[in-house]
This record gives sequence, C-alpha cells and structure tokens, in this order.
Amino acid sequence: MARRIARLSGMEAARTVAELGPGTGAITRELLAALPDDGRLWAFEVYPPFVQHLRATIDDPRLTVVPESAEAIAEIRAAQGLPGFDAIVSAVPFSLMEPAQTTEILRAAARTLHPDGVFVALQYHPRYLAPLLRAEFTVVKREVYPWNIPPALLLRAHGPRETA
Ligand SMILES: C[S@@+](CC[C@H](N)C(=O)[O-])C[C@H]1O[C@@H](n2cnc3c(N)ncnc32)[C@H](O)[C@@H]1O
Repeated sequence: MARRIARLSGMEAARTVAELGPGTGAITRELLAALPDDGRLWAFEVYPPFVQHLRATIDDPRLTVVPESAEAIAEIRAAQGLPGFDAIVSAVPFSLMEPAQTTEILRAAARTLHPDGVFVALQYHPRYLAPLLRAEFTVVKREVYPWNIPPALLLRAHGPRETA
C-alpha cells in the first residue's frame, strides 16, 4: 500500500513533498525510495517517540522530521520560500479528530500545495473524508486498497479551490 501511495502521489517527478502523520515510517520509506535525489521530504509527526524513531532509523539527507502538528506545513512552506508542495501525503486519522482541526489541516494542505500538486490521504473510515476534501479541492478520486489489513481507502485530490 505504501508503494501505491508513492505512485498516486507522483513521487518520481516530485521535488518538494510533505508527509502528515508518518508514524514509524512505513510510507516515508517508500516515498523516499521513489523521490528523485534532489527532492526533499518534510514529515510532520506529533508523537515524540515516533519522531525519535524516525530520526534514529531513517538516515536520509532529503528527509526533515518536523515535530509539529500537520497545520505547520504552512510555516515550513513560508520558511523555505516554496512556491507550493508538489505532493502532500497524509495518514493522519482525521475521523478521530475534532472536525475543526480536520478542516484546518485540509485547508492548510490545499493552500500550501502547488496549483498542479496532489494531496493523497490514507483513511480507514469509508465515508468521512471525501466530502471534506471536496470543499477544498475541485477533483477528488477514491480507491479501495483491498490487500492491506484492514482494507484501506486511498483518496487523491487536486485542484485546490483557494491558494495562498
Ligand atoms: C495511522 S498512523 C500512521 C502510520 C504510519 N503510516 C506508519 O506506517 O507507521 C497516524 C499517525 O498520525 C500521527 N498524527 C496524529 N495527529 C497528527 C497531527 N495533527 N499532525 C501530525 N501527525 C499526527 C499519529 O501520531 C500517528 O503517528
């Protein structure tokens, strides 16, 4: 599934990528495997043991682990002077969060994405995220990945309705 996410996110052609909720790094590793040598990946993780684990186990100069909540993508984009991320990949458990925080993160993602960029989200709840994504992006596609345990939903969105 991590390889499928890397494919859906267009990693081979990406230069600037954000990952939200990398956890122990299963998806992070596949994103890095596909990312060009001059690409950069910022991974935003709130749980300190996972931040430590990622820093201790992935030795890759293209990766920066940011110990902040996903909304901090806007600050990193501004600090780095990026025109927008080519891809934002999320495994954040939106359906377990306060709806206001979900909206804040999706809005930050839409506004920090390059106009031609793509947002890909992994979710286990079958219906929760798609309508919220449609409020921020003009195109939202979904596919079920049945070989994961449990089966997962992969959502791919592009065409941010508002850019910063
Ligand atoms: C389903 S797990 C990701 C699993 C990961 N793909 C792996 O292979 O280990 C979701 C992750 O999102 C993180 N998370 C939850 N809320 C977050 C937020 N607001 N910002 C960034 N990360 C968050 C959790 O700490 C957890 O590591």
